[in-house]
Amino acid sequence: MMRARSDRMRRQYKTIVLIPTMGFLHEGHLSLIKEGHKHGDDMAVSIFVNPTQFGPEEDLESYPKNLERDLELLQEEGVDAVFTPDAKEIYGNKFQTYVTLEKLPNYLCGLSRPIHFRGVATVVAKLFNTVKPHVAVFGRKDYQQLVVIRQMVRDLDFGIEIIGAPTVREPDCLAMSSRNKYLTSEQRISALSLYKSLQKAKELIKSGVQDAATIIDWATELIQSYPETDIDYIAICDTETLVDIQIIDRPVQMALAVRIGKARLIDNMLLNP
Ligand code: PAJ
Repeated sequence: MMRARSDRMRRQYKTIVLIPTMGFLHEGHLSLIKEGHKHGDDMAVSIFVNPTQFGPEEDLESYPKNLERDLELLQEEGVDAVFTPDAKEIYGNKFQTYVTLEKLPNYLCGLSRPIHFRGVATVVAKLFNTVKPHVAVFGRKDYQQLVVIRQMVRDLDFGIEIIGAPTVREPDCLAMSSRNKYLTSEQRISALSLYKSLQKAKELIKSGVQDAATIIDWATELIQSYPETDIDYIAICDTETLVDIQIIDRPVQMALAVRIGKARLIDNMLLNP
């Protein structure tokens, strides 16, 4: 049905924009739609909690949902089509073809979530083939995901323009995420340590620090000074390959993941010396 609709839109010379999501929408998701409107005139949003990108110990079962509210928000944002497939529609029962990247998943989140990016790349490839967008918008909040999708699109000649949109934050600068819902009020305060450590890194660079290890040490100490924080990784890496860099003599990406209670939070920032 979605495919037939897209064929019709393409015959009308519409430019189709796709925003893939897992639902429980917040301002971060809505900002992607606003960005998308600048790049096309037929706006499609998918909502699918993709089982193949969750590890066995992860939060697939408890992932928050509110389809009714999501649909209301999407209507307000002027979305033309909402694609809400179920797992059977996406994976059937004899599914066996996956998209795997050789290198990018061996860094950052991929280290503690070994099957995650295979699941993401596979489902996004399938969404691209079903919805056939000209343009797709992804958030820079999930920086590694954005880099993975760009790489996949280049490698497999999808011919889809990938737009990266800035991270939308709460008034106190916590990056918006569906998973913030898991935080207690004490943990919510600890969650601010992610952004604070990125800001600290920015200040250190401004004051002339070039050594990545020094910055990571500062960030580690800052985060550990908050209760219940358990650092998964803090990395300063090349913006495209995600390989660690030692001396910050060009723009680099700082990225981190911290477990706080039931939530695993991520954030990142471009550091510009
Ligand atoms: P989900 O976590 O629902 O995010 C959907 C899109 O919203 C992603 O591109 C994500 O980067 C973006 N996003 C989330 N929080 C944001 C924020 N605070 N500011 C800006 N953008 C934000 O990412 C996924 O779903 C899935 O992995 C998916 C790509 C749909 C594949 O299953």
